[in-house]
Amino acid sequence: MAGLARLEYRGYDSAGIAVVTADREHLAMAKKAGKLAILAQELKDRPLPPGTVAIGHTRWATHGAPTDSNAHPHMAAGGRIAIIHNGIIENYASLRSELEAVGVVFSSDTDTEVAGHMIAAEVDDGKDLAQAMRDVTRRLEGAFTLLAIDAREPQTVVGARRNSPLVVGLGDGENFLGSDVVAFIEYTKKALELGQDEVVEITPDRVVVTDASGAVVARAPYTIDWDATAAEKGGFSTFMEKEIHDEPAAVADTLRDRFNEFGKLKLDGGLIADTILGSIDKIIVLACGTSSYAGLVAKYAIEHWCRIPVEVEYSHEFRYRDPVVSVKTLVVAISQSGETMDTIMAMRYAQQQGASVIAIVNVQGSTIAREADAVLYTRAGPEIAVASTKALVAQITATYLLGMFLAELRGNKFPGEVRAILEQLGEMPAKIQRVLDTAEPIRALARSMAGERTILFLGRHVGYPVALEGALKLKELAYIHAEGFAAGELKHGPIALVEKDLPIFVILPSPNGPGSLHSKVLSNIQEVRARGARTIVLAEEGDEVAAKYASEIFYLPEAPVLLTPLLALIPLQIFACELAGAKGNDVDQPRNLAKSVTVE
Ligand code: F6R
Repeated sequence: MAGLARLEYRGYDSAGIAVVTADREHLAMAKKAGKLAILAQELKDRPLPPGTVAIGHTRWATHGAPTDSNAHPHMAAGGRIAIIHNGIIENYASLRSELEAVGVVFSSDTDTEVAGHMIAAEVDDGKDLAQAMRDVTRRLEGAFTLLAIDAREPQTVVGARRNSPLVVGLGDGENFLGSDVVAFIEYTKKALELGQDEVVEITPDRVVVTDASGAVVARAPYTIDWDATAAEKGGFSTFMEKEIHDEPAAVADTLRDRFNEFGKLKLDGGLIADTILGSIDKIIVLACGTSSYAGLVAKYAIEHWCRIPVEVEYSHEFRYRDPVVSVKTLVVAISQSGETMDTIMAMRYAQQQGASVIAIVNVQGSTIAREADAVLYTRAGPEIAVASTKALVAQITATYLLGMFLAELRGNKFPGEVRAILEQLGEMPAKIQRVLDTAEPIRALARSMAGERTILFLGRHVGYPVALEGALKLKELAYIHAEGFAAGELKHGPIALVEKDLPIFVILPSPNGPGSLHSKVLSNIQEVRARGARTIVLAEEGDEVAAKYASEIFYLPEAPVLLTPLLALIPLQIFACELAGAKGNDVDQPRNLAKSVTVE
């Protein structure tokens, strides 16, 4: 149950566990719709018999509503077999018809249950559980992590994966399986990744990995470089607040010791030859949601520093539109979890077209990190709150590193120029800390705005992705209608939304520096104020005119314009978090969401 609690961020529509007990014919099971707390209460009211081998699951519904019967585990063979599943079995309908034709009765609407009955049929034929799993997964299409237990093999749990994560935790006289290491970090820091289409069999003292044909595969374990306390709230009442406060460290850690003595970026794995990086003619950033906004910030920075065109595309749009990709394309896949199915699929498509892929990923050993040609880890530590915060600032930082490296490699910047930007970047963690230390007024504002129905966000240049993220955070956490716009776009249509007292956040650029858009954004503010809007302005310290344009104003430390998203994002994250809290929402687990979207 403690492991499930740590995994609950991945899905929280329903939860269940199945336990091997002394009864060699039947497993014991409890499962309930709703959050894990409801299952915990059920187990208190009706405890399961004791056991030391069990599987458990928290669900994010795809096939079948979040009900008790659709919750996992699913039983088969009259309660002898139980299985749990992440992902989608795409050919489940035809498999289900096949099973129903031979008299199998289903007790749920899920795609998962077919796999249970198929495994039951194989073990009935005399196969052991691992062999049954291999034979069944061969017939499944789609994405899955599957775990199964059998009352007649009381010491064993068998797992399999395709396109969905599964990690083994190696303990002393005990072993674990989890879709994320957080599930077992309390017990061991030694882990082992499973490859595509591999099957693993664990007992208390043995771990055997086999490929689809049954041949044993040797896999080297690795050590998880953070401990259980990193995945705890550390005195904050929510993970989100804690993670926002982790942001100075997330940026500092991501920057630490990144360039070698020859000015070469130290990657965390893999390699893309300098000759390839020197000859690429475009970059495509692939990502979803918040991570895609890191890509948008990167576009401004990398195009400016490196003079290479940068396209930013949602992973789920990319591979369905015949994109122009070649060996001269560098794909940058950005993902906190490293398991977002849309991004995995898009990245594979790009690789098939000959592109090199560098992954910017937070979770060590995740699928995207493993499959990319090279990986640059963000060192944000575990991000548990479902809505992303610290991972985003770490991702933006990593794209800056990549941009500076490419700029020097390709001769667009002298080493001294790169060092100067790196120094400015090195000052950002302290500046983020100052934003955090002075955030009480934004919290108070958020609490006073819990009744608002619509809030808009405007920004230009790098302020534009910040506006998009401000709106996304508010939608996700506070369930308020929010939209982010490029401020210049407003007059082309969206300004029709503006009415008296409509709150509009504006990210105002610095008045200093060449080509500043300060006066342009001030004009945009005038346009909405003339129509009655209430403008909440984020301005640079020392900006003397900004206050005149603001109903409320918040000042941010001065920074080079390309680096300002690292500061401007923070008050917007805090605002959304606080407002959602004031509405009584579950900030860490907003409704309808799951942290890693492992289905396409
Ligand atoms: C928003 C959020 C999502 C993720 C998106 C991509 O707060 O968390 O929009 O950013 O699902 O996830 P990753 O980065 O894991 O690929």
